[in-house]
Amino acid sequence: MTPTLHVFSAAAWADAVAAALIDRLLAQPRLRLCLPTGETPAPLYAALASADAGVWSQATVVLLDDYVGLSADDPAAGGPRLRREIVDHVRPAAFIEIDQSGDLDAAVRRHDEAARDLDLAIVGLGLNGHIGFNEPGSTAASPTRVVDLHRRSREAAAGYGAEEAPERGITIGLARLLEARELWLLVTGARKAEILRAALEGPETPDVPASFLRRHPNLRVMADDAAASLLTT
Ligand code: PGA
Repeated sequence: MTPTLHVFSAAAWADAVAAALIDRLLAQPRLRLCLPTGETPAPLYAALASADAGVWSQATVVLLDDYVGLSADDPAAGGPRLRREIVDHVRPAAFIEIDQSGDLDAAVRRHDEAARDLDLAIVGLGLNGHIGFNEPGSTAASPTRVVDLHRRSREAAAGYGAEEAPERGITIGLARLLEARELWLLVTGARKAEILRAALEGPETPDVPASFLRRHPNLRVMADDAAASLLTT
């Protein structure tokens, strides 16, 4: 399937993606969507947080992934970060984060249930080609699970201010993400240009888990100029 590619200037990217998402919410107020944390969506969330939040009142937001074992006040912890950046501002009907209070296997099962039946999965692209924490080695059949984090994901956690680099994460599996009715891949910045080209134009391979997103019949790539600069099509 050929993804739809939407390319914006760096200055226009966040507002353009925010407008597209608000349109989706207006069309389907009870939207069930998953959202990522990270640097890429931060300006998008800032744009959404300052827009009219009324459109979110019936929506359900599901967290894409999180580190295992971080305290709630660790700056890198995904659930609290998503609350701070968007959820607390737009107040969806429900926010489902990854509750690690009991047994981890039970947390995985619960979160996998929550990730069924997504209308829209919004994901970022890791420098190593990961989607959520579907790290290199993942396939289109990878389930929701606990994963050992790749070195680059641990470095990213340190960049997000983690007090101690976490070793494991929980992620919605690629298999579940591919079941979402619609998938949006957010990619910005020149440092993502090479991995975006690999994801969209290279071979489909577990070395670049994002390459499996091309199997999705309704994939929209939302990139800025710099990230899209090496694409040939
Ligand atoms: P970033 O992370 O948005 O902070 O670059 C994306 C990812 O690693 O999935």
